Amino acid sequence: MTLLYATHARVHLGNIRDNLRAIRAAVGPERMVLIAVKANGYGHGAVAVSRMAEATGTAEWLGVATVPEGIELREAGLRLPILKLGPTFPAEMAAAVTAGITLAICSREEADAAAEAARAAGRPVSVHLKVDTGMGRVGVMQEEAPALALHLSALPGVELGGVFTHLPVSDAADPAFTREQISRFRAVAADVQEAAGRKLLVHGANSGAVLGHEPAWLDMVRPGIMIYGFRPDPATPDTIPLKPGMSLLTRVSFLKRVPAGTSIGYGRTWVAPRDTFIATIPAGYADGFNRLFSNRGRVLIGGRSYPLVGRVCMDQSMVDLGEETDVAVGDEVVLMGRSGDAEIRCEEWAEKLGTITYEVTCQVNPRVTRVYDPY
Ligand SMILES: Cc1ncc(COP(=O)(O)O)c(C=O)c1O
Repeated sequence: MTLLYATHARVHLGNIRDNLRAIRAAVGPERMVLIAVKANGYGHGAVAVSRMAEATGTAEWLGVATVPEGIELREAGLRLPILKLGPTFPAEMAAAVTAGITLAICSREEADAAAEAARAAGRPVSVHLKVDTGMGRVGVMQEEAPALALHLSALPGVELGGVFTHLPVSDAADPAFTREQISRFRAVAADVQEAAGRKLLVHGANSGAVLGHEPAWLDMVRPGIMIYGFRPDPATPDTIPLKPGMSLLTRVSFLKRVPAGTSIGYGRTWVAPRDTFIATIPAGYADGFNRLFSNRGRVLIGGRSYPLVGRVCMDQSMVDLGEETDVAVGDEVVLMGRSGDAEIRCEEWAEKLGTITYEVTCQVNPRVTRVYDPY
């Protein structure tokens, strides 16, 4: 494949598959696995990751945030069940029902709108009841969950198949809140199933809980960030081996030797303290190579680490190679990933940028071509 823009992401589908196998080995074959592929698979490519999971049998469900994300998967031919994880506006429901997306139902009004959408589409809608047990974001309050289950069960064209919740601190060092939350959710799920008059798919474990809270595994786990190779937080237990899902690469586009005193880039924030070689790379903040890396980031070339100098521009950045160099125009530059024995991990980006790995990979811009490793 000829890349017409050198800055690209290599997506290590084999690593993501291995992460899924490691999750399966931990949680056991009797549990189902839903993989969160929202936000274009946390930047890795929702269609490619979902296809890999479907082809290798490493996941049973796909999780999306929006109706268009679900439609994209269906149009790509994916047949696995798709759960939309948050509430849906009435105007979005017809398209969701037609695409066979399972809706998360958080209120009576939403339940009624789903029933109306099913009636209009002439086909049933599958739903899971979402209960708020401590996230404080969306979901029916736990006291009202059995009544909503009863209401859903009576609606024509609505098939209640599951009940779930979300855990806000399952990745934290202190397990107390999550333990208590899980035991409350288990009790609510039992009441919901009694109200519904049948066994439902009960689920609550995001990556933090897959790694650190076995009682949350229930009938299905819902990992996101860990399938892409990262623990949700440095404090989360390291109980399952994970491999990075993405590397970010580019090439040297321009090289020059500058005399001491030469300023580099916008704002003239870096001035060469000595004669030195400066490489320019075609990667900037419009690619997700964050501007906060200005004078703070680093890259790898030929297994060696070099500092970024000056401000990161929209489309380009500059690297100080030092007084002598054998780097040449066209050489591969690793922004994230391995080069020889050296590595820049996504966690290093997250720490330097004051954010989390989730945001780092989500911010890799669509103009950065994803190149998929075979698996
Ligand atoms: C409802 C729900 N379940 C599971 C996940 C996956 O979370 P994580 O990426 O932390 O594993 C998310 C992501 O935010 C979510 O919103």
